[in-house]
Amino acid sequence: MQIKTKILKSNKRNIIIASELLKKNKIVGIPTETVYGLGGRADNDNTIKKIFNIKNRPFNTPLILHYKNSECALNDIFYDERAKELAKEFWPGPLTLVSKIKNKNISKLATANLNTVAVRVPSNKSIKELLMQLDFPIAAPSANRYGKLSPTSAEDVYDELKNKIPLILDGGISTVGVESTIIDLSNKKVVILRHGCISSADIEKVLNCSIKKISDVKILKSPGLAINHYQPDKPVRINAKKQRTNEGWLGFGKIQKEFVKPSLSLSKKRCLKEAAKNLYKMLRLLDRNEIIGIAVQKIPKKGIGIAINERLFKAAKKK
Ligand code: TXA
Ligand code: MG
Repeated sequence: MQIKTKILKSNKRNIIIASELLKKNKIVGIPTETVYGLGGRADNDNTIKKIFNIKNRPFNTPLILHYKNSECALNDIFYDERAKELAKEFWPGPLTLVSKIKNKNISKLATANLNTVAVRVPSNKSIKELLMQLDFPIAAPSANRYGKLSPTSAEDVYDELKNKIPLILDGGISTVGVESTIIDLSNKKVVILRHGCISSADIEKVLNCSIKKISDVKILKSPGLAINHYQPDKPVRINAKKQRTNEGWLGFGKIQKEFVKPSLSLSKKRCLKEAAKNLYKMLRLLDRNEIIGIAVQKIPKKGIGIAINERLFKAAKKK
């Protein structure tokens, strides 16, 4: 049967509609503070299978589970003091914790059959209210086709998936704009698997220990982190100083006169948080032009700039 996607403003009535769909194993586009998610109930194999198929995502890349509060999230994992401390400091918010799984009702497809699971408690009002209606966590990858740019608005989700899902809840633009920070707590050594708004320095301060970067770890634990990702259709060239003929320009700071259209600035006042919020949206806008590629100016590697650089590096990898 042909589905026609509805985009509904996230209000009380429509959150109930979304919750009823989720209870019936349907997939819904859901706003979060980081990026929009493609959500389904985490305790049902068929639902999870649908998420993978809609995204065209390989089954060896596990999903993140979203919970209404820290208590529910911690209940589903074997947690230690470190998890408790991080949860207390950063939840609700853009932090994902990976730990050994405890809840046996979670679909094994969602966790790619690993003995660990990624959990987070989002701070976005819409998904929080939605989760309050449910007695199961929502498994949700970013709501984009596999390997492509994450969506930061309801329209972006529609552009990515067209009519493959019945409903997208429109909760406005994601305020953070890049995906959550992922911290692996399943071993003695704390490892950062993906950078985000919450930096490794923020984590180190709370845990009072040094943490490793994924590149330092011999076994690549997170298959989805290794390959091309976050890619627009046009090639991306990073750390660019000048625009080449027929290239689009994505700058950081005021754009000088020598740059021609299409050109956009991630943040005219060189604010990294603003740049993160604009990153995917602006790459999408530039990608729509008749250009040979997108050149991106160097972004400082500090704070959320580390997360931005991580995404751009993967966006620029040859396909
Ligand atoms: O901000 C976010 O985290 C967004 C919103 C929707 O919550 N979600 C998101 O999900 O970015 P996704 O599926 O695009 O990225 C999830 C990442 C994948 O790279 C996956 O490999 C990793 O989380 N992951 C999930 N479970 C894992 C596990 N048990 N061990 C290691 N990595 C895991
Ligand atoms: Mg993703």
